[in-house]
Amino acid sequence: MSRVYVFNQYGGPEGEELIERPIPEPGAGELLVEVRAAGVNPVDWKIRDGHLGRDGQLPAPMGREVAGVVAAVGPEVEEFAEGDEVLGPVAPGQGGFADHALLRGDQAVAKPEAISFAVAATIPVAGTTAYDLTHEIELETGQTMLVLGAGGGVGHLAAEIGLLHEFRVIGIASPDKRDLVESTGASFVAAGQEAPAAVRELAPQGVDLIVDLVGGQALRDVAPLATTPDRIVSAADPETAIELGGAGRSRDPETLMKITSVIGYEVITPRISGEYPLDQARQALAVVETGHAVGKTVIVP
Ligand SMILES: NC(=O)c1ccc[n+]([C@@H]2O[C@H](COP(=O)([O-])OP(=O)(O)OC[C@H]3O[C@@H](n4cnc5c(N)ncnc54)[C@H](OP(=O)(O)O)[C@@H]3O)[C@@H](O)[C@H]2O)c1
Repeated sequence: MSRVYVFNQYGGPEGEELIERPIPEPGAGELLVEVRAAGVNPVDWKIRDGHLGRDGQLPAPMGREVAGVVAAVGPEVEEFAEGDEVLGPVAPGQGGFADHALLRGDQAVAKPEAISFAVAATIPVAGTTAYDLTHEIELETGQTMLVLGAGGGVGHLAAEIGLLHEFRVIGIASPDKRDLVESTGASFVAAGQEAPAAVRELAPQGVDLIVDLVGGQALRDVAPLATTPDRIVSAADPETAIELGGAGRSRDPETLMKITSVIGYEVITPRISGEYPLDQARQALAVVETGHAVGKTVIVP
C-alpha cells in the first residue's frame, strides 16, 4: 500500500485527508516514482478551494511537483530506467503529496546530483514559473527588474535569475523577508503604500520589467513604474496584468530542462523554509495558504 494526501470535497482544508491506496501502476509513457520530496504551491489549495473549477473527480490527490527515484517504468518509456533520480510535474489526475506518484516520462528530467531532493522538488512549478517570467521580455545587462512578492516561492527565484543575468533587481516584500530578499542580491523595498515611491527613488527612470507574484491592488500600485505597460508579467493575476497592458505567464516547454541545469550548477539556490513529513501535509499547506510564505515549503514523505 501507499499513502496519498487528497481532498474529498471542494472548500476549506477540512476536506483534506491522508489515505492509503494500492501502489499505482505506470501506464504507457509513465514513470512510477518513489517520492522523496514534493513542493507545496498556492495552486494546491486553489484547486481544493474550487478556484479552478469544481467538476474534478473526488477524492482528488494533491501536489503538483515532485522529486524522487524511479521505481518502475511503463511501456514506451525510453528516457528513464528503474533507480534513476528524477524531478517533474505529476501526470494529470495524480498527486505529489504521496509515497508514490506517476509522472509523464517526457515531462520529467534527471535530478542533478549536486542538489537535494527537496531543492529538486521546487523546480517543476516555482522554478519554471520564475524562469518563464524573467525571460518573457528580454532585458539587457544593467536594466531594472522589479519583483513584487520577492520573498515567496517564485519571487526569490525570479530575483536570483535576474541577478544572474546582471539585471538590477528590486524586490518588494514584507519586512520579515528583508534578509531573504537581500540574500539574493536584490535591493529590498518594504511592501505597502510607500512601496511605489521607494522604488521610484531607487529607479527614477522607471523599471524595465515588473514580475508580479501578488496581483490585485498591489500590482495596480506599482504598474505606473513600468517604462511601458507591456513590461508587466504576472503569474498571480494575469487578468489585472492584461487590463494594465501587460501579460500573464507564457509557458515554454524547454524551461524545465533549462532551469534544472541552472539550479544543478548551483548558481542559484531555491530557499527551503520548511520540510514537513507526509502526515503533516495539512500544516505544510496551511503555511502556503496564508499567502505570506517565505521561500519554499516542501513535503518529505
Ligand atoms: N500561472 C502559473 O503558472 C503560476 C505558477 C506558480 C505560481 N503562480 C501564482 O503566483 C503567485 C505566487 O506564487 P508563489 O508560489 O511565489 O507564492 P508564495 O510562496 O505564497 O509567495 C507569495 C508572496 O507574496 C507576498 N505578498 C503578498 N502580498 C504582498 C504585497 N502586497 N506586496 C508584496 N508581497 C506580497 C507574500 O508574503 P508577504 O505578504 O508576507 O510579503 C509571499 O511571500 C500565486 O498567486 C500563485 O498561484 C502561478
